[in-house]
Amino acid sequence: MSGTADGSVTITRDGTNQSIRLPLLAGTIGPEVADIRKLYSDFGIFTFDPGYGGTAACESKITYIDGDEGVLLYRGYPIEQLAEQSTFLEVAHLLLNGELPNKAEAEDFHQGVMLHTMLHEQLRSFYNGFRRDAHPMAVMCGVVGALSAFYHDSLDINNPEHRRISAFRLIAKVPTIAAWTYKYAIGQPFVYPRNDLNYAENFLYMMNAVPAEPYQVSPVLARAMDLILILHADHEQNASTSTVRLAGSTGANPFACIAAGIASLWGPAHGGANEAVLKMLGEIGTPEKAREFMARVKDKQSHTRLMGFGHRVYKNYDPRAKIMQQTCHAVLAELGIKDDPLFDLAMEMEQIALKDDYFISRKLYPNVDFYSGIILKAMGFPTSMFTVLFAVARTVGWISQWKEMVEDPTNRIGRPRQLYTGAPMRDYVPVGQRG
Ligand code: ACO
Repeated sequence: MSGTADGSVTITRDGTNQSIRLPLLAGTIGPEVADIRKLYSDFGIFTFDPGYGGTAACESKITYIDGDEGVLLYRGYPIEQLAEQSTFLEVAHLLLNGELPNKAEAEDFHQGVMLHTMLHEQLRSFYNGFRRDAHPMAVMCGVVGALSAFYHDSLDINNPEHRRISAFRLIAKVPTIAAWTYKYAIGQPFVYPRNDLNYAENFLYMMNAVPAEPYQVSPVLARAMDLILILHADHEQNASTSTVRLAGSTGANPFACIAAGIASLWGPAHGGANEAVLKMLGEIGTPEKAREFMARVKDKQSHTRLMGFGHRVYKNYDPRAKIMQQTCHAVLAELGIKDDPLFDLAMEMEQIALKDDYFISRKLYPNVDFYSGIILKAMGFPTSMFTVLFAVARTVGWISQWKEMVEDPTNRIGRPRQLYTGAPMRDYVPVGQRG
């Protein structure tokens, strides 16, 4: 493929004069994109891109990542500025509606979301169907999927009002579902939401309060929670978001689509990584053992990865990881933890990796998950809840991306093709005649 001055690229079949001119599409920022939509119909070939590393599967105005420079923008705003100055619900409004809200819009949005924090009472009985030792993500997949069986009045994806209410319902109810998942696992009564609290405070309240005594939410921990939610709110066309879009492209209802996203997020290569980081740090144990573990990571035969390092898109420091590392200091100070062995070990591992040629040559840097688990653990969350928290935050991104897709008149069902390498056509042989 060769670039041409008039905004197109031409593909020529070697040894022939057959060629096709593909228009180049320009985004606001980022690389140009070759439009291959006519490549098969006009030229008879597919493109091959397992893992979609070089494929723009959709047009989007929501999130932009420059992986080489370590830049992350939500609707144009740098993540650092939003993390420092904004709140999660303000960011949710931004992602969903395209702009930061003015004062009246912010109040409306807050009220709109918080009005929906309760679950249909019958949903409580769903929890009893799960084993107490079920992974919370298994419960999340089930209960979020079940929402579509309860909210029939907002399932028409072609009705803007239904889309609006479904978005509010998902953003509002997912924290309640998540907190109840935890309460169920530890055998405590479910705590109902409190709409006089802000989004992060309410979530911490439902997680930690018990009916037997008053519970005061720490403002520092609520702010840390809010920040973690902001940092995880959206991240362009990652695996779980692409899953939501693919499910949604068929016309499936938003609750079913978000349940699909939660399933996709669960894997250790994606949202499950923060849980995996803590397990890894626990196994390594002390900074003295860090180098030994690093040697194992570099030995391909060991199939060991440094969890929380590397990213499909970031080939530089993940900007969210920097903010997480700073937040780690604040949270540990608030909790009066002077020396956290896991944090010390993580920083030691990071220093070793950043100076090691294996990581430098492959451009492997800490990603958002490297430090988030340490903060969450210090805040009292069990490891199995880490990915659940990620799902709570990412629900905003998923539903924003789903809405954008459904509202795009050019949306078509997602249907990739393949490079078939199986048997060519052959005739059926009766069992007695098979060798
Ligand atoms: N530890 C050791 N080596 C690694 C790591 C790692 N964490 N990540 C990548 N590599 C190596 C690969 O072995 C490969 O080496 P090679 O070229 O010698 O074969 C090279 O770096 C490129 O790796 P790929 O697997 O091709 O990178 P890809 O973009 O497919 O994977 C991924 C990205 C899945 C995130 C990977 O870096 C990884 O597994 N990291 C650990 C899990 C993790 O932290 N996931 C969270 C991602 S962020 C998120 O979802 C919120």
